Amino acid sequence: MQTARLPEELSEAIQEQCAAFPTGELAAAAAQISEAYRRGLPPRLETAVMRAAYAATRLPATYAALARAAAELPFTPQSWLDLGAGPGAAAWVAPCLATLVDSNPHWDDLRPARRICADLERLPDLQAHDVVSLCYVLDELPPAARPGLLDEAWRLARRALILVEPGTPQGFAAMLEARRQLLEAGARLAAPCPHQNPCPVEGKEWCHFAVRVERSRLHRQLKGGSLGYEDEKFCYLAAMRNEPPQGRARILRHPEIRPGWIGLALCRDGGVERQQIRRRDALWRAARKASWGDPWPKLPREDDGGRQ
Ligand SMILES: C[S@@+](CC[C@H](N)C(=O)[O-])C[C@H]1O[C@@H](n2cnc3c(N)ncnc32)[C@H](O)[C@@H]1O
Repeated sequence: MQTARLPEELSEAIQEQCAAFPTGELAAAAAQISEAYRRGLPPRLETAVMRAAYAATRLPATYAALARAAAELPFTPQSWLDLGAGPGAAAWVAPCLATLVDSNPHWDDLRPARRICADLERLPDLQAHDVVSLCYVLDELPPAARPGLLDEAWRLARRALILVEPGTPQGFAAMLEARRQLLEAGARLAAPCPHQNPCPVEGKEWCHFAVRVERSRLHRQLKGGSLGYEDEKFCYLAAMRNEPPQGRARILRHPEIRPGWIGLALCRDGGVERQQIRRRDALWRAARKASWGDPWPKLPREDDGGRQ
């Protein structure tokens, strides 16, 4: 897996925000955030030190996951609305000035953005944007509040809606519900699903992907461990209004590499299938470069695309 590099300015902005606090306080706040996630609860990000700890320990991974999902957009958005924005991962992913909505009025902008303080369960009148994103948010809302928010998010999405959730069975369950609802609303799924049929993974496993994110010294200090990277597991969905579905299969797991052949677990129209690519096959070179989460087959110009 290639390691996603954060934009230098983002790393610096996180460092700067954290410099206001002793490392011990940040580490205690980071431990509270991890503990909340372990217990399946949204962390309480009401104090400045909790928000700084969230930015240091979670923002690199949420940024990288959203960037991977956004790499599937077949167009360059001119406007972007992020709902439940927190510290603003979307502002770093959007190629334009992002509009960030959150009920917490105390988030510092690490990058210029338009901020709107609002409750996602009672959104004010908002303008439509080319892209609307909801990143690590659905899971924090009561299940009964999700369909209304999704309806509204889809209504506001002029061209695409991107959802990202933790790569857990719970995150996948939220994604499946959203998938059904968006298909009923007429959305075309562009990624990761290669088709508009019922999800073939449902009930067996959970469809999720991973992005490898480099860890800063600060991240290692706050979270412990010595590895220079972490693997962020995430589920995502990119739903389009008018773009034609690209229709290519999706690689669902790490390729199995054996002498003389490579095994791929693929999601296709009819279900999940295994394909064995042998050395003599035309797709051998492509299979050698293939990774978990890639569309299959990948086009030569995509070889390094979508990776930050
Ligand atoms: C886990 S953070 C995710 C932040 C950001 N999207 C990211 O990926 O890093 C969840 C965010 O959703 C916001 N949030 C949760 N419930 C909300 C609600 N009902 N209305 C508005 N914002 C909400 C929280 O304040 C928090 O900033």
